[in-house]
Amino acid sequence: MEQQGNTLPPREFMPKHVGIIMDGNGRWAQKQGLPRSAGHKKGAEVFEQIVKDCREMGIEVVTAYAFSTENWKRPKAEVDAIMELLRSYLKRLDKFHREENGRLRFLGDKTPLAPDLRQLMEKVEADSADNTGMEVNIAVNYGGRAELVRAAQLLAQKVSNGELSAKDITEQTVADHLYTCGQPDPDLIIRPSGEERLSNFLVWQSAYAEFVFMDVLWPDFNREHLAQACWEYARRNRRFGGV
Ligand code: IPE
Ligand code: IPE
Ligand code: MG
Repeated sequence: MEQQGNTLPPREFMPKHVGIIMDGNGRWAQKQGLPRSAGHKKGAEVFEQIVKDCREMGIEVVTAYAFSTENWKRPKAEVDAIMELLRSYLKRLDKFHREENGRLRFLGDKTPLAPDLRQLMEKVEADSADNTGMEVNIAVNYGGRAELVRAAQLLAQKVSNGELSAKDITEQTVADHLYTCGQPDPDLIIRPSGEERLSNFLVWQSAYAEFVFMDVLWPDFNREHLAQACWEYARRNRRFGGV
């Protein structure tokens, strides 16, 4: 299937759920002699634009990796700058869920986050829970392994309460105890910045995802890159173990 100018693949070949590992903010800033936080600021703007582009393209679910369980290793000033960007985004989110009917979910453990941030996140999740438009997941303090540990703990609790029997635990039961419960698995995972690894993103859910790695830093990522990744996805032959 060949890319036709500015167009998108036919609808049936478009991914329904796209995961994005928003990487390369630091390198983008360093390249222009700016502090890393300037890269995160530009990256946050790009994220907002790309969510709009995804919506216009008919993508139903977008999961964006914003902060991993391992990113706490970074200098405190950088972590604080990322949290501040998240705070300012959360305060401007009303339009998305009120006018655009979008549903927001945060994947990850909110416990170590600042109380006001947690409150804003929980409010947006609750306010948008019944919306039926596009779903946007933002992974904050998220790790795929931590998510599986949490699922194991929730299931163990149910077994010890007598709510569930160990032999009734299936792939579906596990999936139902992940942050993404009820959502389809990602069809396409895009990682810009040139790195070609998962870095603990959607470990369970990506079992049959198609990966597209791109040589562009996230702050330079635009709608054309997104369309290019969708065309690449449309050309793949997904077999799911069959022939
Ligand atoms: C991604 O960009 C944003 C986060 C991980 C929070 P980076 O900050 O990892 O940018 P590079 O990879 O150092 O260029
Ligand atoms: C992955 O990027 C996490 C996010 C984009 C939020 P990293 O920059 O943290 O990943 P590594 O360290 O290169 O694997
Ligand atoms: Mg990085």
